[in-house]
Amino acid sequence: MLMINKLATILAGVTALALIGVGVARAADAPLDAETKARVERFEKGPATVDISKYPDGIKANYEVFSQKCTQCHKLSRPINSDYALPDEWSRYVKRMMHKPGSGINAAEGKEIYEFLVYDSSVRKKAMVDEKLAKVTPDEKKAAEGKIKEVHDLYDK
Ligand code: HEC
Repeated sequence: MLMINKLATILAGVTALALIGVGVARAADAPLDAETKARVERFEKGPATVDISKYPDGIKANYEVFSQKCTQCHKLSRPINSDYALPDEWSRYVKRMMHKPGSGINAAEGKEIYEFLVYDSSVRKKAMVDEKLAKVTPDEKKAAEGKIKEVHDLYDK
C-alpha cells in the first residue's frame, strides 16, 4: 500500500512537471493572430546580426545580453528588423518580453537590452526614428530625444 502511495506521488509529480513544461513551451509558440504572424515573418527574413564594430564597449557588452536573452523563443532578426525604434516602444516591448513565462530576463538585463536597442535604433534606424518623431507632439518628441540622449551620455566617451 505504502509502495503504491509512493508511486502515485511520484507519478503526480512527474505529471505536474510535464504540465509546467508544456506551459513554458506554449508561451514561446502560442498561436499568433494572422497580422502579427505576417509581421514577425517579415522581420525574421531580415539580417540576424547587427554590425556593432563602431559601437562603444558598453553597448557591445549589452549586445551580448540581447543576443542571448532575446533568442530563446524566436530569432534575433525579429527584434533587429522590427518596426520599433523609439525609447518608449522599446521599454514597453522589453517589459512585455520579460513578463513572458520562462523568459528568465532580470531587471538589470532588461535595462541593458533596452539601452542597446535605443542606442542601436538611434544609429542604424535613424531614418525610422526621425520619421516617427515627425509624427508625434512636440512634447513627446522632446521626451523621446531626452531618453535617446540619456543612453548616449551613459555610453559615448
Ligand atoms: C519567452 C519567450 C520570448 C522571449 C524570451 C522573447 N520574446 Fe519576443 N516574442 C515572443 C512572442 C510569443 C512574440 C509574438 C508576439 C507577442 O507576443 O508580442 C514575440 C514577438 C516579438 C517582437 C515582434 C513584435 C510585433 O508584434 O511586432 C519583437 C520586436 C520581440 N519579440 C522582441 C524581443 C526582445 C527584444 C526580446 C529580448 C528582451 C524578446 N523578444 C524575447 C516571445 C519571446
